[in-house]
Amino acid sequence: MRVKTNKETLRRGRLVGPLSDRVIRILKSIVFAASLSPVAFLLWDVLTDQLNANPFNAIVRSSGFWSLRFLCLTLAITPLRWLTGWHSVVKFRRMFGLFGFFYATVHTAAYVLFDRLAGLDAWVRARPLIATAHTLSAIGVDLLRPFFAIGLVALVLMAPLAATSTVGMIRRLGGRRWQALHRLAYPAAVASVLHTYWPLTLRAPRYAVILGIVFVLRVGRAYARRRASMARTVQAVG
Ligand code: HEM
Repeated sequence: MRVKTNKETLRRGRLVGPLSDRVIRILKSIVFAASLSPVAFLLWDVLTDQLNANPFNAIVRSSGFWSLRFLCLTLAITPLRWLTGWHSVVKFRRMFGLFGFFYATVHTAAYVLFDRLAGLDAWVRARPLIATAHTLSAIGVDLLRPFFAIGLVALVLMAPLAATSTVGMIRRLGGRRWQALHRLAYPAAVASVLHTYWPLTLRAPRYAVILGIVFVLRVGRAYARRRASMARTVQAVG
C-alpha cells in the first residue's frame, strides 16, 4: 500500500475535505447558473425585442465574446493557482472550458442559421436538400476567407478537449497523453483571438493582452522549474 506523504495529505485535505467538498458543490452550482446567464439574457432580449438594429449579428457577437471570455478564464486557472495558492479553483476549470466550447458552438450555429440559412430564398428554404447544398456551398465560400477559416480552426481544436473532459476519458487516455492533448487549448486560444480581431492591425486588444499575460506566466513558470531541476541535477552530480 502506498503511504501518503504529509504534503499530499495536506493538499488533499485542502481540496477535498468534507466541508470543502460541500462548499465547492454549492459554488459550482452558482458558477454554473452564472455561466448560463448570458444565454438567458440573450433569449430575454430576443423575446422582448431589445436587441439592436441587427439582432442576429448581436447574437453572433455576444456568443463569440462569451466563448472567448470562458477560454481566457480556463487558461487563467493554473497561473491563478500559482499566484494565490488557491488550489481548489482548479475544480472549476472543466466547467469553464466546456462553457467556452458551448458558446463557440452557439456562435457557429447562430452564424449558420442567421447568416447562411436565413439568407436563402423562400423557395430554396422549402426544399431541404437544395437548402442544405446551398448552405454548405455558401459556408465553403466563406471558409476561403481567413477570418472564417481561423474561427473554424479554433472550434475544431476545442472539440477534442470538450470530448475528452470527463474523468473516464482522462483514465482511458492516461494522465500524460490527456495533458498533452489538452495543450491544444493554447493554439485554440490564439486562433480565437486572431479570428476575433481579424484583420489584424497594430494595436493590443483586450483579450490578446489577457492571453499574453497568461502565456508569459506559464512560460516563466516552466523556465523557472526547468532551471531548478537542472540545478538539482548539477548538485546531485557534484
Ligand atoms: C472558438 C471559436 C470561435 C470564437 C471564440 C469566436 C469568437 C468571435 C468573436 C469574439 C466575434 C466578435 C468579433 C467582433 O465583432 O468584434 C466573432 C464574430 C464572428 N464569428 Fe466567430 N468565433 C469562433 C468561431 C467561429 C466560427 C467557426 C465561425 C463560422 C465559420 C465564426 C463566424 C463568425 C461571424 C460570422 C462573426 C460576425 C462578424 C460580424 O460582426 O459580422 N466564428 N467571433
